[in-house]
Amino acid sequence: MIRTKLCDLLGIEYPILQGGMAWVSTAELVAAVSEAGGLGIIGSGQAPPEWLEEQVSKIRKITNKPFGVNVMLMSPYADQVMDIVIRERIPVVTTGAGNPGKYVAGLKEVGTKVIPVVPSVALAKRMERSGVDAIIAEGGESGGHVGEQNTMPLVPQVVDAVNIPVIAAGGIFDGRGLVAALALGAVGVQMGTRFMCASECVIHDNVKKVLLKAKDRDTVVTGRSTGHPVRVIKNKLAKRFEELEMLGTPPEELEKLGVGKLRAAMVDGDIEYGSVMAGQVCGMIKKIQPAKEIIEDIITGAEEVLKRLPGGGN
Ligand SMILES: Cc1cc2nc3c(=O)[nH]c(=O)nc-3n(C[C@H](O)[C@H](O)[C@H](O)COP(=O)(O)O)c2cc1C
Repeated sequence: MIRTKLCDLLGIEYPILQGGMAWVSTAELVAAVSEAGGLGIIGSGQAPPEWLEEQVSKIRKITNKPFGVNVMLMSPYADQVMDIVIRERIPVVTTGAGNPGKYVAGLKEVGTKVIPVVPSVALAKRMERSGVDAIIAEGGESGGHVGEQNTMPLVPQVVDAVNIPVIAAGGIFDGRGLVAALALGAVGVQMGTRFMCASECVIHDNVKKVLLKAKDRDTVVTGRSTGHPVRVIKNKLAKRFEELEMLGTPPEELEKLGVGKLRAAMVDGDIEYGSVMAGQVCGMIKKIQPAKEIIEDIITGAEEVLKRLPGGGN
């Protein structure tokens, strides 16, 4: 069985995190992943605090296993969301878009593990200094907001630069990806795109259908000129972004074009003019399956890979 120190740190069976995804990772998916031995993480995005409270209470009705909340630090509700995390003693918080430094002491006081997502070595070092428990190093193969580095070069550089556990994210799909991440020095993986096609994931069926059909080259990064690049499935919205960027449209105009578009895709099923965030692994999604089956597939796959490797099984 594949166990790492991440399992002990978070109290989980398998070193697999389901990344927080705004409008995508809600109570149903999160509870299923945690119940299956991974760590489910709520994507709180820009949602108001009441929404989060509801999600937490739903999860606790389904499972008593640990789970996490992803907090986007740029959200207007970030302070209130952190208050809920502390009050509810949520086992794990992952953070994006900023430095969680000012919250670390309060979170640690109630035993919440703090794990920021970072796209670079410099940020990883800064986060380590602010006292976080681990780091998620996320490469640009991933779905959603991306940095400039890819997973293969980023993870070992972060591993070498910090003394806290590193989790790899971006472009990981199955047992092969898990073993590769461990080989790079990570203690586990965070995956988003594959969990979008879990049966428990509540996103619109139109999006699931697009992901089932997607091939390796079907994603594109838009919005580089805004400073907030995003990896999405190519569609009419992505094309419009590319055209406007080529015309030198000011970043503020481009940002406006993106407002509300993730919700339009994930909730309303608008796969042409919505933002269908997804990572490069979408080409490997072949079926809708329960989160438990996804986790079992990753673990058994990883064990087989380890046996197949030169010297494996000896
Ligand atoms: C639809 C979608 C929405 C996402 N939303 C968030 C988010 O709100 N906060 C965050 O930190 N990461 C977000 N991510 C990133 C994931 O949590 C995860 O790190 C990433 O998907 C891993 O790469 P993969 O897609 O190759 O598995 C999102 C990813 C996707 C695909």
